[in-house]
Amino acid sequence: MSLAETFAPALASSNGASRRGRLVLEHISKDFPGSTVPALRDVSLTCEPGEFVVVVGPSGCGKSTLLNLVAGMLTPEEGRLTLDGQAVRGPHPERTMVFQDHGLFPWLTAAQNIAFGLKMAGVPRAKRDQRVEAALEMVHLRRSADKLVHELSGGMRQRVAIARALVMDPAVLLMDEPFAALDAQNRTLLHEQLQELWVATQKTVLFVTHSVNEAVRLGDRVVVLHAHPGRIRREFRVGLPHPRNFDSPEIAQLVRLVRREIEDEVNRVNAQTDEELWKPKTPADLDRHSVGMGGGI
Ligand SMILES: Nc1ncnc2c1ncn2[C@@H]1O[C@H](COP(=O)(O)OP(=O)(O)O)[C@@H](O)[C@H]1O
Ligand SMILES: [Mg+2]
Repeated sequence: MSLAETFAPALASSNGASRRGRLVLEHISKDFPGSTVPALRDVSLTCEPGEFVVVVGPSGCGKSTLLNLVAGMLTPEEGRLTLDGQAVRGPHPERTMVFQDHGLFPWLTAAQNIAFGLKMAGVPRAKRDQRVEAALEMVHLRRSADKLVHELSGGMRQRVAIARALVMDPAVLLMDEPFAALDAQNRTLLHEQLQELWVATQKTVLFVTHSVNEAVRLGDRVVVLHAHPGRIRREFRVGLPHPRNFDSPEIAQLVRLVRREIEDEVNRVNAQTDEELWKPKTPADLDRHSVGMGGGI
């Protein structure tokens, strides 16, 4: 079975009129006990099937909270969250997550880690092997199938984590700063591979990062989160075709535009005097990932 057949976007209706992966957040608010300001307030966002949406903002602005709500690991105090018209209630393989820390089982091989969720879901052995093989191929790790986690590099571990999420054939793939711990070269490689994977699978992806470069390289749409409380400040459409040339002047220009937006936000929060309030780092610290990416980005 080919990769496209294994991971082709499933059709929600037989006539193909609607595809899986429409994620709708309506007026979502989330409070944590003991905080004076909600982590998120009145956040509305729609991700269309097959869209790659990146949420960007400084640390502490509510990005992980947003993803955890979609993953069903947190419940909003207010608002409605649906995937393909179904209310989100608790975790489900339709919504799989890739974290910054790969979270792989060290006593299992790459292939066994990828197979784990399928095994738990009761997928028969032959089908499981077929899907795991296709997933390994997708992340270019077929030859490392039998390696244990400690035998894999940081970038390879993240690729296994992505394969583990994709093998469940989710309607939406959630990614929480998955490349933040990698060096610049590996990050660029993973950006290229993720682009390739996304083009092949046409999954809806909701990706969060504090790196503006990463956001503009990958996203169809970049949503800037406002901090304290977390709200959507602005959205940018990135109308560039995929696969993208990451060093193009258009990307550099958009990066400048989005970064300016975030710098304004950092200045706004820094201007607040209440010591209780969350304080972001200086604008220069916001995007340490820009180092070594070239093009003056
Ligand atoms: N489990 C929690 N309990 C209390 N406060 C939390 C919890 N998780 C996150 N917060 C707070 O919510 C805000 C947003 O956090 P988070 O979503 O982790 O931000 P980000 O991922 O953008 O760095 C922060 O002020 C953080 O301290
Ligand atoms: Mg976070």
